[in-house]
Amino acid sequence: MTHLSSTKVVPAVSAVPRHIAIIMDGNGRWATKRYMPRVAGHKKGVEAVRTIVEACVERGVEYLTLFAFSSENWRRPADEVSLLMRLFVIALEREVAKLHINGIRLKVVGDLSRFDPKLQELIQAAERRTAGNTRLTLTICANYGGRWDIMQAVRKMVTANPGTADFSEDQLAAHLSMAYAPEPDLFVRTGGEERVSNFLLWQMAYTEFYFTETYWPDFDGAELDRAIASYQHRERRFGRTSEQLIEQKKAS
Ligand code: IPE
Ligand code: IPE
Ligand code: MG
Repeated sequence: MTHLSSTKVVPAVSAVPRHIAIIMDGNGRWATKRYMPRVAGHKKGVEAVRTIVEACVERGVEYLTLFAFSSENWRRPADEVSLLMRLFVIALEREVAKLHINGIRLKVVGDLSRFDPKLQELIQAAERRTAGNTRLTLTICANYGGRWDIMQAVRKMVTANPGTADFSEDQLAAHLSMAYAPEPDLFVRTGGEERVSNFLLWQMAYTEFYFTETYWPDFDGAELDRAIASYQHRERRFGRTSEQLIEQKKAS
């Protein structure tokens, strides 16, 4: 049951979402509002990551996925890009031991080949060290793009099945970079923009969306609870009718 796609299994929405995916947006505006450089917002954003990881562990969330750097973010000024990379390295160096002690498995997904070899090594070491942990799987999407993910999965699927032309959705999904996780139940975007910005395009086919004006550095446990409460009031029908869902509930 654990790895079935959420488009096939109707989860009990009264429960805490198993998988929350977040676009952490608004760091720059948080800083600008305070007459600070954008980098100050990114630094504060790292603290918010720590807070939300802890909050998810406390609430029993099983998978937390954070969009840290998109394939489009290379378009930013070079100094902001290199600073974001430096922050990533520092966070890995400082936080991995703590993640490990707390039973958190770390995964980093995206096209990592464009990163500095030292950063790639740090990522691999962190993933290896925490691979056996089961309390929460924390995925950081770095140089990630939903279209990139689908394309790399298509390439792998075709290579694995030479001469085949007829493929199923499940065959493709098995090659997506987050094939180890169920699809997100809840998607949160902070910072007021209401768009997907090339995040988990395939995986969010039936995810519930939640948007907040709050900038990412201000997003805390109470804000997370508001997002979860909103989720718990949704009826996830996956194409079915309300009546069918009630019948299904009675039968189970
Ligand atoms: C999100 O905050 C962090 C990254 C994209 C790395 P932004 O840097 O996009 O902040 P705003 O949207 O400019 O406020
Ligand atoms: C999306 O944020 C990516 C991350 C949070 C890493 P952006 O701030 O880059 O998105 P757009 O460009 O405003 O859509
Ligand atoms: Mg932004």
